[in-house]
Amino acid sequence: MKTEENVVKLAPSILAADFARLGEQVAEAEKAGADRIHVDVMDGHFVPNLSMGAPVVQSLRRVTSLPLETHMMITNPDLFLEEFVAAGSDSFLVHWEGNYNLDRTVRRIKELGKRAGVVINPATPTSVLEEILPEVDLVLLMTVNPGFGHQHFLHSTLSKIHRVRRMVDEVNPRCEVEVDGGVDEETAPLAAAAGANVFVAGSSIFGDKAGVTTAIDSLRARIVGRQGVVSA
Ligand code: DX5
Ligand code: ZN
Repeated sequence: MKTEENVVKLAPSILAADFARLGEQVAEAEKAGADRIHVDVMDGHFVPNLSMGAPVVQSLRRVTSLPLETHMMITNPDLFLEEFVAAGSDSFLVHWEGNYNLDRTVRRIKELGKRAGVVINPATPTSVLEEILPEVDLVLLMTVNPGFGHQHFLHSTLSKIHRVRRMVDEVNPRCEVEVDGGVDEETAPLAAAAGANVFVAGSSIFGDKAGVTTAIDSLRARIVGRQGVVSA
């Protein structure tokens, strides 16, 4: 079924952007047809790396009208939700790992009027999604271990994407299935065939020597038509 929720969407990850030209690069991505901007927030504890915080979202809010999705790779996302909402975040992706009160976090995001997504790491089984799935707008499957850009897509996640697509279609068809990590022209069509419809891409968009516009065009062209090719 073709609905607004399962059309192909591209979410360039600014982790791979040139921070000295961030506004420019995001504007170019918007013009090239990006559907949302993916902002990776890391605290050096939840993942072994540091990245950016709410001030970056605030600056981006002034230069783009695209939805800003905020991937919270931090130990206590609840503490920062309000700050990011005030800065202009439109949605939050929160990890199952390490969150003992995930339902509370998801409810809080919704109370704040924002879209909520749950994220699972490569080694986390899909069964943990069972209870939370009806409550979320997105499921994000990490296709690398979180913390760094420019890693190789883990092909072992393909069967997981397929399983999650089946769960989503059954339980909450309005939920999006998103993938993050190592997504490029080779791996995106595989993830699409397995059932993903939202594609986060950092290096393959901002690191493409041909430029952001060409990268977005060719990534989209490789994905469209591949969706749901793998059948049960
Ligand atoms: C990794 C981040 C990703 C990262 C993807 O922890 O969540 O969003 O930016 O980067 P690429 O597309 O380069 O693998
Ligand atoms: Zn991310």
